[in-house]
Amino acid sequence: MPTTVVTGSASGIGAATHAALREAGHEIVGVDLRDADIAADLSTAEGRQHAVDAVLDRCSTGLDGLVTCAGLGPHVDDPGRIVAVNYLGAVALLDGLFPALRAGGAPAAVAVSSVASTHLTWETNPIASAVESGDFSGVAAAVESAGEYRGQFAYAAAKNALTVAVRRRAVEWGAAGVRLNAVAPGAVDTPLLRAGEDDPRYGESIRGFTAPLGRRGRPHEIASFIAYLLGPHAGFLHGAQFVIDGGADAALRPQAF
Ligand SMILES: NC(=O)c1ccc[n+]([C@@H]2O[C@H](COP(=O)([O-])OP(=O)(O)OC[C@H]3O[C@@H](n4cnc5c(N)ncnc54)[C@H](O)[C@@H]3O)[C@@H](O)[C@H]2O)c1
Repeated sequence: MPTTVVTGSASGIGAATHAALREAGHEIVGVDLRDADIAADLSTAEGRQHAVDAVLDRCSTGLDGLVTCAGLGPHVDDPGRIVAVNYLGAVALLDGLFPALRAGGAPAAVAVSSVASTHLTWETNPIASAVESGDFSGVAAAVESAGEYRGQFAYAAAKNALTVAVRRRAVEWGAAGVRLNAVAPGAVDTPLLRAGEDDPRYGESIRGFTAPLGRRGRPHEIASFIAYLLGPHAGFLHGAQFVIDGGADAALRPQAF
């Protein structure tokens, strides 16, 4: 039975992924703030280290799968915390658990990014220099130009950096036999999206936006693709980002892919 770690396992897409993978025969180690096998706050360096150490304690012989799903939405009014959870919280688990994945059976990992990752480029990403230097102390100032929309700016920046991190690891991870991909959901009906709909800054545009398929995604529709990416039929999929958004990206940017 493969052993797979899912962060953000207590809610939304992470909870649906937990369920889909369990149904596919995985033993799951859930990581979340609460209601999980491992309680850890991925917004802090200590919490991230605790999560990695606790997983390694449980999976001493190796790990077969990893899904980094924990995240905060753009409505959260602290850009530093958005970057800490959505970028650092994912990358710390990917890198901290890479040695354990190398020792696993047909190992694979999936990072849950977002279509927001495509809303800016690496060249315009305000946290790119922090990623390169490893000094994240100036992140809040770097997104301040977006004013009350700094949460959205930080969210897109963190997800763009996460997708870049996935793609930058393709060579080393591929050579080690560990597949790594990103999924980029559009609007999916979860507590995170509903909090955005209730936010006075973002609510109207989120509520007014409809994907070509005419509805929001459902958490299990993201989860089932993540389960596919971790499974044996996805053996040549590596280093890619897969948009799952009901056609929204195609409608907005038909020439970009
Ligand atoms: N819902 C969407 O429309 C949507 C779209 C694109 C991407 N995403 C991404 O999908 C992922 C899951 O989001 P969701 O919509 O299921 O949201 P959600 O709020 O339902 O679930 C997020 C989970 O992350 C956990 N989490 C938050 N902060 C944490 C911390 N500091 N430490 C540990 N765990 C923490 C929460 O407790 C929660 O269980 C996120 O990375 C999000 O950015 C969501």
